[in-house]
Order: sequence, then C-alpha cells, then structure tokens
Amino acid sequence: MKVFVTGASGFIGSAFLSELVSSGHEVVGLARSEESASKIESVSPSVKALRGDLKDLDILKRGASESEAVVHLGFIHDFTNYAQCCEIDRQATVAMLESLKGTNKPFIYTNGTLVLRPGKVANEKDTVDESSKCLRAATEETALSYKDKGVSVRCIRLAPSVHGKGDKGFVPVLMSIAEISGKSGYVGDGQIVWPAIHRSDAARLFRLVLEKGRAGKAYNGIAEQGIPLKDIAQLIGEIVNVPVVSIPEDDAEKHFGFMAVFVTNDGPVSSEATQEELGWKPQQLGLLEDVRINYRPT
Ligand SMILES: NC(=O)c1ccc[n+]([C@@H]2O[C@H](COP(=O)([O-])OP(=O)(O)OC[C@H]3O[C@@H](n4cnc5c(N)ncnc54)[C@H](OP(=O)(O)O)[C@@H]3O)[C@@H](O)[C@H]2O)c1
Repeated sequence: MKVFVTGASGFIGSAFLSELVSSGHEVVGLARSEESASKIESVSPSVKALRGDLKDLDILKRGASESEAVVHLGFIHDFTNYAQCCEIDRQATVAMLESLKGTNKPFIYTNGTLVLRPGKVANEKDTVDESSKCLRAATEETALSYKDKGVSVRCIRLAPSVHGKGDKGFVPVLMSIAEISGKSGYVGDGQIVWPAIHRSDAARLFRLVLEKGRAGKAYNGIAEQGIPLKDIAQLIGEIVNVPVVSIPEDDAEKHFGFMAVFVTNDGPVSSEATQEELGWKPQQLGLLEDVRINYRPT
C-alpha cells in the first residue's frame, strides 16, 4: 500500500517507517526540511519525501489524495504554545480528511491517553473525557466522525511515555528538572500512574491498525497499564544522584512547569481489546528497565 505519513522523521515516525518498509509498503513522508527529507529517504528507495509543513494544507491534501492511506504522526511539540499547536493539528487533520471523503481509505489519527477520564482504568470503549484539558480530545472526535463521510478513520491513543533510543519526551524532561532543581519529585503519595509503551511496539501497532483496524475505532497504544510516578522518580533520583521528594500538588506547577498537568494526571489505561483484536503483543523492554539501561542525563 502507498502510505502518506506525516511526522515520518520523528521519534515514532522513524520506527514506523522501518516497520512499513519491511512489510512491503511504499511511503510518502511529509518533510519540512532538506535534513528531514534526506533522513527519511535514506531508510529505503521505497520512501519518498514530500516537502511541506503541517500548515501547508494544500500539500497535505495532495499527499493524502495521491496515496492509498494516511498516518498522521506529525505534531509541533511546543508546550509554551500548546493551544496553537493543537489548532494547527486540527486544521491539518480536517484538511486531509476532507480530501479523503468518500474514498474509504484508511486514516490514522494519533492522540495521547491524556484525553481519557483519569482515576479509573480506561479502555478502548471509553470516548474522550468531555472535561479533558487536552485540546486534542475534540480533534479525535472530529476525526472519528469522518467514518460517516466515507473515510476508514481510526485513532491510536498513545501512552504519555513512548520510550526507547532517542526519546526526548517526558522522562528526559523529568530528568532535566531533577538535574536543575537538585531533586527528583513526584506528586503527593506518588501513587499517580503513567502508562508506557516502547516505540518499536508502538510502530508495530500502527502498522497493524493500518492493515487490520476498523473504521471509527480507537485503539490503545499501551504496553504497561500504569507505572507509579514514585517509581519513575526513584529511578531518576538514582541516575541523576539527587534525593527523591514528594511535591505537594499545590506546588506542582512551580516544580514541574508545563509537566504539572501530566504528573498530576492519574491515568491507567488498558489495551486488552486492542491486543485481542489485532493479535498484537508488546515485546520490548518495560519503561523502568529501558530507562535504567539506556537513559542518561543530558
Ligand atoms: N513520544 C511520546 O512519548 C508520545 C506520547 C504520546 C503521544 N505522542 C504523539 O505521537 C505523535 C508522534 O510523536 P513523536 O514523539 O514521534 O514526535 P517528534 O519526535 O517530536 O516528531 C514530530 C514529527 O512532526 C514533524 N513536524 C514538527 N513540526 C512540523 C511542521 N511544522 N511541519 C511538518 N512537520 C512537522 C517533525 O519533523 P522534523 O523531524 O522535521 O522536526 C517530526 O517528524 C505526536 O502526535 C505526539 O504528540 C507521542
């Protein structure tokens, strides 16, 4: 299948590219720079770059309409300007979906599990939490509504920590907060949990959802349902060699900055239905083991 992939040069996108190529798919990857274009084209002759930005809606429509499927992994991770990044994501998603109306082509929207209601184990049947502070919740709902407009749209909700070599996500950010502040913090009693998934398991899941997923469905990209943040803080404390401390919830923003919203969200998530439907089983290292072996402070 010829697949248009946004975010093809990213942390998850680059693992997904290799997964697609080794399964015989052809890829057109969105690339906003010469560097990203060469990076993705060096993977295989069956990968071609389409130069453009997530704000270039005509380019996105072209990439989508000239391919047999779309996987939208691109996102501008500027947490100081998060609302604007989410609006760019919404417009990009809608532009691609509009160009696919009536074609029944597969489209995968990527989201995070933070759009789900916290405080209980969420599953694939859960729709996004209406009170979610995450603005990508509404975009997921909009995307899934294109099932009724002739697009075979699916959503993958990824754990807040997708880990592996080259991770620049939340664990490295917590590590640098620990280095700078001289303490590795967790909120309250530390029993708030985060799900996690290794990026190679995530990449395989994306391929299976592309090949076998069903229209209008959300799949959970989760290998570990919930790891106590206290355990993550403990490990970071050992690696960075700083004391591990409880941070009162009222001080979370002061200590964690933009991460406060993530470290105060108790969000266990199951992927049982995803695993059963797709015959997918996570195979890689768990988060704590991966961090212990492979992560070092910057
Ligand atoms: N990593 C995680 O822990 C995690 C957890 C939950 C959800 N997610 C979601 O999974 C998706 C992929 O994440 P990731 O970790 O792979 O992200 P990433 O490493 O930051 O990669 C982002 C991708 O988007 C591209 N991009 C950024 N701004 C762009 C722009 N203005 N125009 C065109 N392309 C642009 C980047 O291109 P360049 O290479 O040129 O910069 C890169 O290919 C995102 O939706 C993310 O929010 C990730």
